[in-house]
Amino acid sequence: MLRRSALGLAGRRFSTALAQEPAARLLEGRCALAQPWSERPKGTIDQMTGREVQTLSKHLGCELPSVDLTQSFNFEELEIIKQASDDAGGIVVFSHQKDTMTIHDHTRFARQLVASEDTVLEPHAVAAGHPLDSDVLEIVREANQHVVFGENWHSDHSFMGLTASYSILRIDDCPRFGVNDTLFSSTEDAFDGLSQTMQNLILDLNAYHSANKAYGVGHPGNSLAAMEGTDTMSMLAETPILESDVLQPCVTVHPRTGRRSIYVSPTFTTHVDGMKPEESKAILLFLCQWIARPEFCTRVSWRPNQVVMWDNRSLSHKGLADELTERRAVHRVTVRGVSPQNHRGESFSLTHKTKAAQGGLFEGVMDMPDAATAAARHMSA
Ligand code: SIN
Repeated sequence: MLRRSALGLAGRRFSTALAQEPAARLLEGRCALAQPWSERPKGTIDQMTGREVQTLSKHLGCELPSVDLTQSFNFEELEIIKQASDDAGGIVVFSHQKDTMTIHDHTRFARQLVASEDTVLEPHAVAAGHPLDSDVLEIVREANQHVVFGENWHSDHSFMGLTASYSILRIDDCPRFGVNDTLFSSTEDAFDGLSQTMQNLILDLNAYHSANKAYGVGHPGNSLAAMEGTDTMSMLAETPILESDVLQPCVTVHPRTGRRSIYVSPTFTTHVDGMKPEESKAILLFLCQWIARPEFCTRVSWRPNQVVMWDNRSLSHKGLADELTERRAVHRVTVRGVSPQNHRGESFSLTHKTKAAQGGLFEGVMDMPDAATAAARHMSA
């Protein structure tokens, strides 16, 4: 099997010589991500923000209908899938998976992917794994649950020293079509969309990311509350990650494509290093609202037997909660990445840690323009 050192130029060779490669069958039927607006219920409101969901990006995401994830893949085939992800801004939808696909098929695919990257699967650092395989995070939203896990923008594991590269999500209990979708923002397009002056302003900023903000006590309406509202999700007995926050560049560079990406989120980012709280809050509010603009966003609706792989280095995402009466369960497997680097090739998350931010101190960063709606919902939940 080819090893990681064969990436780079070799990867480019694959992408230009696909027609001759047998592995190219994986790309048969490749198409842009469908946006079936006519099939989706109209006017559903994101309960988190109180707003109608709007997504306008036309080029983000692709569907690969010919990949059977229960098969075995060699390095070249995995590279083709990763290249397809790069080409589509980081979202690949594997539609029409076998009815018989199991949780073990899911993790077997993920383990082949991690072997091709010389890395490992990263079980969630706070939430307990699935009883059948602890590498799988089962994200459950019970019907009529008011706070749902991962409902605000985030990049998986940005609170860790080694963050997530790919996440692979398989639907287990599928809601009716077009509700409780997964929403994605291309944080690369969002960076490109800034003025040169703003880009220069944020290029050398760094910000702290906190698991405590999302899963610790004292931060209202977070994923801890979401877990407590389910019968199946629970916290691990030991959660040392809740004790310290890590420093990440506000703009990261994708190790495969070289594209720059805004790397802050309302879920995990607490404050910009070296700034007064008011300054930090203003910058983070602007960036969090900027990445949520419809022109950078797309939406993946769920069908049974569908798996979605996304690249956390290019995207922010959130699980929409626009139909609270529907139960929904998904299984997520996450690939360990590296310590994110800035445009100078510097990274900080392994070396720069601080005591976890206290509940209440930076809650303002969660605020969106219609925060009153969200606050009212959380108070009534
Ligand atoms: C996640 O936040 O990783 C899951 C997104 C979703 O539930 O759609």
